[in-house]
Amino acid sequence: MSIELTKSHKFFKKFLKEFAEKEILSLAKEIDETGNFPKKTFEKLSKLGLTGIHTPLEFGGAGADEIAKVIAVEELSKKCATTGAILSIHLLFGELIKKFGNENQKLKYLPMMSEGGKLGAFALTEPNAGSDAGSVKTIAISDGDHYVINGTKCFITGGGQAESLVLIASTDPSKQLKGLSAIIVDKGTPGFSIGKIEDKMGIRGSETVELIFENCRVPKSNLLGKEGEGFKISMIGLDGARIGVGAQALGIAEGALEEAIKYSKERSQFGKPISSFQGISWYIADMATQIEAAKHMIYYAARLKQEGKPHSKEAAMCKYFASETAKFVTDKALQIHGGYGYMKEYPLERMLRDAKITEIYEGTSEIHKIVIAKHVIG
Ligand code: CAA
Repeated sequence: MSIELTKSHKFFKKFLKEFAEKEILSLAKEIDETGNFPKKTFEKLSKLGLTGIHTPLEFGGAGADEIAKVIAVEELSKKCATTGAILSIHLLFGELIKKFGNENQKLKYLPMMSEGGKLGAFALTEPNAGSDAGSVKTIAISDGDHYVINGTKCFITGGGQAESLVLIASTDPSKQLKGLSAIIVDKGTPGFSIGKIEDKMGIRGSETVELIFENCRVPKSNLLGKEGEGFKISMIGLDGARIGVGAQALGIAEGALEEAIKYSKERSQFGKPISSFQGISWYIADMATQIEAAKHMIYYAARLKQEGKPHSKEAAMCKYFASETAKFVTDKALQIHGGYGYMKEYPLERMLRDAKITEIYEGTSEIHKIVIAKHVIG
């Protein structure tokens, strides 16, 4: 299976590279410093069709494929990891509606999340349900034609900004993991409020929040799929989203490599550019090699998904490998910059902080090794 890009993908990549250089790069430092969610940038992404990139044309989307999705997240993340992360996680909401929503849900949510400029989110994690995602305690009790939801979610990307989100809650605690259901909750629903806004190490503008549900009544028509399908819906959604995190990590690593090459050619020590020292050039060779491998894995997983083939293992592998690559590459890129790399004047310390989350969210590296081992060993 080739990862060679088509002519239109190449054109799209070039367009996005220029867009990110012109519109995104200059904001990255400010977003990092203030921790503010980049609302205007998200509107721009929407105008470009990126927020509905994978949504079918009849629902207001761009109707593009999985490769285009990877390209978009990769190119944005190269210049600003927060922006890449916001797009990647927003796309998970649309993916879930597209895959599991009924006609009414698709008509209501897909256009507004695509051309309408509204943000979507996914709320699975709880204080005691992180890696052990099946132990969700948020409960949705049936009451006539409504669910009454109680519980707390944490670490939800964009949860405070989102117009709507897919919530995972238990509709039947006696069935544990098989009693979980996916329910769409809209902003402003009485009983739904935003709790703590986290102060984070990296991707500081993506707004990571706690969500609180207190006797929150949601119509049963908001159930996504069937009752009891919430865990599988989450896992299938995360299989796709993990390719997105791989693309974020890849973009961050590529951005850091570009900075390292540029700096190593400009910086002279002992009378010559530091790129001419074998020690530095070997770092760069290692960085480039790992990036190339990560790229192949990510585009391969995206192609499998596009072709409707199983891709859980490949998604876990590419996310695991790309995130470790991003950590390795940003660390070495900072090292190449020496003392300057440690200063906020240069983007490396931000890139290193941004890279770290890719090893943690949407499944830690350790969880991915479990998923991979289950596939490999059986
Ligand atoms: N596709 C379809 N079904 C799947 C699946 C997949 N990828 N993975 C598991 N399942 C199914 C299994 O087949 C099984 O179904 P049956 O019983 O019918 O066979 C069922 O789900 C349970 O599977 P497991 O026994 O493997 O479940 P587990 O409890 O051992 O958990 C896990 C598996 C991989 C550890 C999972 O809990 C997991 O992925 N944990 C990490 C959670 C995670 O990624 N959280 C991030 C949340 S998103 C986020 O971070 C918020 C944000 O804003 C960024």
